Amino acid sequence: MSKQPTARKADPSTTGHSWDGIQEFDNPMPRWWLWTFYLTIIWGVGYTIAYPAWPLITGATPGVLEQSTRADVQSEIDRFASANAPIEAKLDETNLDAIKSDPALADFAAKSGRAVFNTWCAQCHGVGGGGNVGYPTLADNDWLWGGTIDDVYTTVQHGIRNTTDPEARYSQMPAFGTDGLLDKTQIGDVVQYVLEISGQPHDADKAGAGAQVFADNCVACHGEMGTGDRAQGAPNLTDAIWLYGGNEAALTETVTKARFGVMPAWTGRLSEAQIRSVAYYVHGLGGGE
Ligand code: HEC
Ligand code: HEC
Repeated sequence: MSKQPTARKADPSTTGHSWDGIQEFDNPMPRWWLWTFYLTIIWGVGYTIAYPAWPLITGATPGVLEQSTRADVQSEIDRFASANAPIEAKLDETNLDAIKSDPALADFAAKSGRAVFNTWCAQCHGVGGGGNVGYPTLADNDWLWGGTIDDVYTTVQHGIRNTTDPEARYSQMPAFGTDGLLDKTQIGDVVQYVLEISGQPHDADKAGAGAQVFADNCVACHGEMGTGDRAQGAPNLTDAIWLYGGNEAALTETVTKARFGVMPAWTGRLSEAQIRSVAYYVHGLGGGE
C-alpha cells in the first residue's frame, strides 16, 4: 500500500501562477546563495575600480592600481636588455674572429644567435640551417657567397638580390630559354653536360656538344670547370649539392628560366649584436671557414 503524501505543515505562499491547476511556490532563495550573490556584485564593482575594466573609445579605464600586463612584459624585457647590455656592447666591439677565444662571449653569441636564427631565419633556411629548395643549407661547407664569419656577417647585414639594401649581394643568371639566348637543343645538351660534371648518368653525345655550349655561355660565372664563383654567388655545379635540384627536369628549368633567390637585409631590423651573434651561430653550424 502506498502512503498518501502528507500535506506540509507550513506551505510557503505561492506566486499566484497556476498552470492546469499546478501552482508555483514562492520559495525564498537560500541565504547562503543570496549572500554569495551580493558578494560577487561587491567584488565585481571593486574589481572594475581597481583594474582595467570599462572599454573606452581607444582603450579602457586603467583602474586605480594601474595594473598592466603589457607594462609588466615591457619591464621584464627591459630588465633582460639591461642585464645583457654590457656583453652586447662587448660583442659589438670584438673582432668577429676573436669571439670564439672569449668563452663567455662565445657562449652568449651562440645562444643568442640560435634564438635569432630560430625567430628570423629558420622559416627559410630550416631549423639548424638544414636548408630547403631555393634556400641554401647553412650547415654544410658549400657556400654560394662565402663561409668565413665575415662573409656570413656581410650576407646577413645586406641580404641578397633584395631591392631594399643598395649593398645587397647581387648577380643574375640569364634566362637562357625564356630570353631566347639558347634553343631547346642547346639547353638539352648543356643540361647533359651539367649532369656529366656532377657525376650523374648522362647522354655522352649530347654532353659532348653541351661542353661547348657551357664554355660559350656559362664559364663566365660558373668557372672553367663549373666549380662556381663566390664573387657572383654562382653555385658549384660539380658537387652533389643543389640549391634548386640536380635532376634533368630541375636543371632544364634553371637554365631555361634562371633563378633569382632573394634574401632580405637585416641591418636596421636586427641590432648589431643580434647580427653578430647570428653570424657567429651560422658559422658554427658545421661549415664555417
Ligand atoms: C625570406 C627567406 C630568407 C630569410 C628569412 C633568410 N634568408 Fe638567408 N638566404 C635566403 C636565400 C634565398 C638565399 C640564397 C640566395 C642565393 O641564391 O644566392 C640565402 C642565403 C643566405 C646565406 C648565404 C649562404 C651561402 O652559401 O653563401 C647566408 C649566410 C644566410 N642566407 C643567412 C641567413 C640568416 C642568418 C638569416 C636570418 C637572420 C637569413 N639568412 C634569413 C633566404 C632567406
Ligand atoms: C651571369 C652569371 C651566370 C651565368 C652566365 C650562368 N649562370 Fe648559372 N647561376 C648563376 C647564379 C648567380 C646562380 C644562382 C641563382 C640563385 O641562387 O638564385 C646560378 C644557378 C645555376 C644553377 C642552379 C644550381 C643549383 O644548385 O641548383 C644551374 C644548374 C646553373 N646556374 C647552370 C648554368 C648554366 C648551364 C649556364 C650556361 C648555360 C649558366 N648557369 C650561366 C649565374 C650564372
